[in-house]
Amino acid sequence: MNERRIATFEVTPNIAVVKYWGKRNEEKILPTNASISMTLDSLKTRTTVMFDSKLKEDELWLNGKKVDLEKNAEAKERLKQLDVIRKKAGINHRARIVSINGFPTAAGFASSASGLAALACAASKAAGLKLSTQELSILARLGSGSASRSVMGGFVEWTKGEKPDGSDSHAVQVASPQHWPEIRLVSAVLTEEKKKVSSRAGMRQTVATSALYRSRQEHHLPRVLEEMRRAIRERDFEKFAELTMRESNSLHAVMLDTWPPIKYMNDKSHEVVAAVHALNEAAGRTVAAYTFDAGPNAHIYTLVENAPKVMVMLKKIRGVKKTVISKPGVGPRELTDSSAHLIDPRNGKVRKHCFDEKKNEITVTVK
Ligand code: DP6
Repeated sequence: MNERRIATFEVTPNIAVVKYWGKRNEEKILPTNASISMTLDSLKTRTTVMFDSKLKEDELWLNGKKVDLEKNAEAKERLKQLDVIRKKAGINHRARIVSINGFPTAAGFASSASGLAALACAASKAAGLKLSTQELSILARLGSGSASRSVMGGFVEWTKGEKPDGSDSHAVQVASPQHWPEIRLVSAVLTEEKKKVSSRAGMRQTVATSALYRSRQEHHLPRVLEEMRRAIRERDFEKFAELTMRESNSLHAVMLDTWPPIKYMNDKSHEVVAAVHALNEAAGRTVAAYTFDAGPNAHIYTLVENAPKVMVMLKKIRGVKKTVISKPGVGPRELTDSSAHLIDPRNGKVRKHCFDEKKNEITVTVK
């Protein structure tokens, strides 16, 4: 008889305020520095994993389409946590993975963090493992570094760790989601284009060629990490905001110092930078803080009372395609209701599913 085990999770992305950019071990995805982020409450990814003794190969369905894993080496590489899970659980079954983003795919929001953290949660649960958050973080990390931080809610630090096996490089909570309920993140989509240089390739190039990167590691980051933890714990927005902006600027300076240079921010991004500084200047204090990842889209941290000001500011910038406001999120959530699975537990088939933009929710057709 064939054996089927299934689990479904919803996980949200995180946006870093102290950035990860550089690996000391490429295979285990061990970072050269600790990083800190906030897990969001919106932009969910839902993932169902089924281990089935009848499957011959691992299978991945992303946003309704089957991914050819033989032709897509990067996607295959990101699934390596499955072998770790099988080994831990003592099973040999292949997995069917079905994952969908609860937001428009072409909207320019990164989904690798939420996607790979959702895979860690759903696959380990389906395999019958009961893992700690730290263990889940380590599994997620094997798919994508930033995913290691999405297994927890609130403000999360991904520790650098010292051990060669990576067992001490995982998420720890700096503050719970309830700690700072007034904080908001306004994300502004400036382009829907796919980035030209992947984070993986970009950071490898930076580590190999940038002298400024070494100075960032030695002089900038140790102080920023310490001050950022304190600013979050004390809910000191002005301090938090200045550190966030300076840190984003440091990251993008190091990217430009890479040889050949890497440029992720565009003219629109710099327009947002100038507009945030003008807004803070006009307010006479720091009310908003921008941060940019490996792409031009802007993420602006602010407090709930100043969110309308940020929205007005963004409305004046031509080329802002879409904005999304997020609060601190609670982290991964298991969906145990059978109708929420993207795979039919009775016959193992992929259910019809889509993201309904009007309703802003994921719909699954249950027959
Ligand atoms: C700029 O986690 O996407 O967003 O580990 O190679 O998959 P890999 O990289 P990834 O890099 C994210 C880089 C960043 C900063 C951050 O989120 O800390």
